[in-house]
Amino acid sequence: MEKVRAGVVGMGRGCGLAKWMAQRIPQYEVVAVCDRSPERLKSRAAEIEVPDLKLYTDHRKMLAEEQLDAVMVETDPCAIAEVACDALYSGRHVICDVPLSYRLHDCWDIVIAVERTGLKFQMGEQLRYARFIHEWQQMNMEGRLGKILYAEGQYIHDIGNGRMFWDPVQGRYYGVADADGVPGLVQSDRRPMHALTYNPHELSPILKVLQDRVRTVSCMATRRGGYTYQVPDRSDLEVALMRTEGDTIIRIVNAFGCPDPGVRQHWYSFMGTKGQVELKRARWDRPKVWFKDENMADYVAVEDLGWSPAEVKEEAAGTGHGGLDFYPMYRFARAILEDTPTDMDVYLAAEACAPGIVAGISAEYEGLPFAVPDFRPGPHRKAGEPPATYMARSLYGDIEREGATHHPRGNA
Ligand SMILES: NC(=O)c1ccc[n+]([C@@H]2O[C@H](COP(=O)([O-])OP(=O)(O)OC[C@H]3O[C@@H](n4cnc5c(N)ncnc54)[C@H](O)[C@@H]3O)[C@@H](O)[C@H]2O)c1
Repeated sequence: MEKVRAGVVGMGRGCGLAKWMAQRIPQYEVVAVCDRSPERLKSRAAEIEVPDLKLYTDHRKMLAEEQLDAVMVETDPCAIAEVACDALYSGRHVICDVPLSYRLHDCWDIVIAVERTGLKFQMGEQLRYARFIHEWQQMNMEGRLGKILYAEGQYIHDIGNGRMFWDPVQGRYYGVADADGVPGLVQSDRRPMHALTYNPHELSPILKVLQDRVRTVSCMATRRGGYTYQVPDRSDLEVALMRTEGDTIIRIVNAFGCPDPGVRQHWYSFMGTKGQVELKRARWDRPKVWFKDENMADYVAVEDLGWSPAEVKEEAAGTGHGGLDFYPMYRFARAILEDTPTDMDVYLAAEACAPGIVAGISAEYEGLPFAVPDFRPGPHRKAGEPPATYMARSLYGDIEREGATHHPRGNA
């Protein structure tokens, strides 16, 4: 195979990514795109600027009619598992966006589909390709931080009360204020979700630095309905504490209804027995390091690398998130063409998503700790077989839940 013939499902963010795929990554030939919303499909597909691009409103028809090697799934998270599994079982490699889902069952479905088909799978979390993450991982591997005791990550993104309803025909979001009286709207999957379910941008880089997985989670949320925007069902802010297999405590704060100046939307820090690192907290601030054995009386400011990538490719410049959006797609094509493992395989993907789903469950029990399922095959489960339960179990008491309360799109 010289080029990966690709189809892209979901023409929101997927439209821009398909365009970069077609124009910047010569390893791809973008053959077809698909969106359930006919109006959105028509208007967005033209922006990709690929002659003879095939358009579909049904991903199964696209899979049946097109000669594709791979599918990029850019649907809303509630639809990723269905499309990804259909693509895998039809013999296509799959790259999808974050998160895999808001439900544990969907994560399991994808894990099992990858195990049964043996095809390549990648979750396209892109912040793990940042240079500072690469450098912190190196520091950890070289032992400069000692044993990492504590890590923090946070995603503070004030999304207001827009995107709360969805028009499936026009492919348009409506906010709380402008949805009144508009016919045919369904609740958008962004409305009642727990902020912590959108967690891979924090956990993916943190777990990459640690080379670890989360074992247990406890989470608390401020009241549903919020203070800032009064969005029904949504908390303004959620905080999770997680313990990893390797005994690091991680604290994650996610907030979609908490105003902030937008400097540290994604922010991370690590604290070890021999050193500490953290990103800047304000525009006038700098990232900092401190190493116990290097005679440092205080934290030392270091270069602000922003979102610059660890591996510099000219073609990445100008793609989203400081150019990082380029890398998952580029590396996925190389993994297919060179038959090498993907950077974020299905286990790493599930391990970056499931703790956030479990955090949403825990928040509904006022912080009751829950165990995170182990998605890797072993004595408890053979590869390709379903698990004994799709649920997360509480550590105390007999509570089992598959996902937190939410109303995915179309199921209001
Ligand atoms: N990595 C990142 O930085 C980042 C940033 C934003 C969004 N995301 C993720 O990217 C994905 C897409 O986000 P978005 O903002 O474009 O969402 P969106 O809701 O605007 O677009 C999703 C599109 O998928 C279509 N769709 C849903 N199910 C479908 C199906 N079965 N067949 C065909 N089309 C289907 C919808 O009609 C919609 O047009 C989401 O999973 C989101 O969580 C990731």
